[in-house]
Amino acid sequence: MRLDKYLADSTTLTRSQARKAIMAGDVTIGGEVQTNAASHVDPSVTVCWQGRPVSPPKARYLMLHKPAGYVCSNTEDTWPPVTDLLPAGLREGLIIAGRLDQDTTGMVILGDDGQWTHRLTRPGSTIGKRYRVTLAEPLVADAESRCRDGILLQGENKPTRPAELTRISDTEVLLTLHEGRYHQVKRMMAALGNKVVGLHRESVGQLVLGDLPEGQWRELTAEEIASIK
Ligand code: URA
Repeated sequence: MRLDKYLADSTTLTRSQARKAIMAGDVTIGGEVQTNAASHVDPSVTVCWQGRPVSPPKARYLMLHKPAGYVCSNTEDTWPPVTDLLPAGLREGLIIAGRLDQDTTGMVILGDDGQWTHRLTRPGSTIGKRYRVTLAEPLVADAESRCRDGILLQGENKPTRPAELTRISDTEVLLTLHEGRYHQVKRMMAALGNKVVGLHRESVGQLVLGDLPEGQWRELTAEEIASIK
């Protein structure tokens, strides 16, 4: 990380105040005064500002098993936000990386590293998101090829990106999407003449919900964090 960003993240200084403090010779890296704001900070080396060691708070990367009845926003009045499921001290500044509907269950990713969460939510992201979908009616015979070829959703002019559909039974499927449009699974199933009665997100890229109990959360491992590219 650049020294000016490191100092701003670690103290109450703004980025420009941090630059001034660096140029004034108030900052040392590994005991040596460093006046170049762009210099690189190795995480293993101590940075001091006015003689006191400083370090940025540890970034948070979390996975949460969302139950139905919670929303992925803080502006809803009717339903509580998913962040209510986290300890109060952990909620501040967290970004929810991709929304699930109120009635959808499963994996929600949260973090306070905006560049990292953006990799999951940016429009061009093709990271696969796998859903277990329960349907009201038996699925049409050509559903696999229609999902693979792309489906033109109502009110849109571009078909969906190729998606993989695997049948578990007539009324239960696994569907992996490589984009994130509004209510996408429900609208794709509606285009196939069906209705979603249960929707659960099992995985995002290499992150797998596994046996994390509903309503519980955990920190991501270093490998999981690095897997989101
Ligand atoms: N697609 C939907 O329709 N709803 C969700 O919550 C997620 C994907």
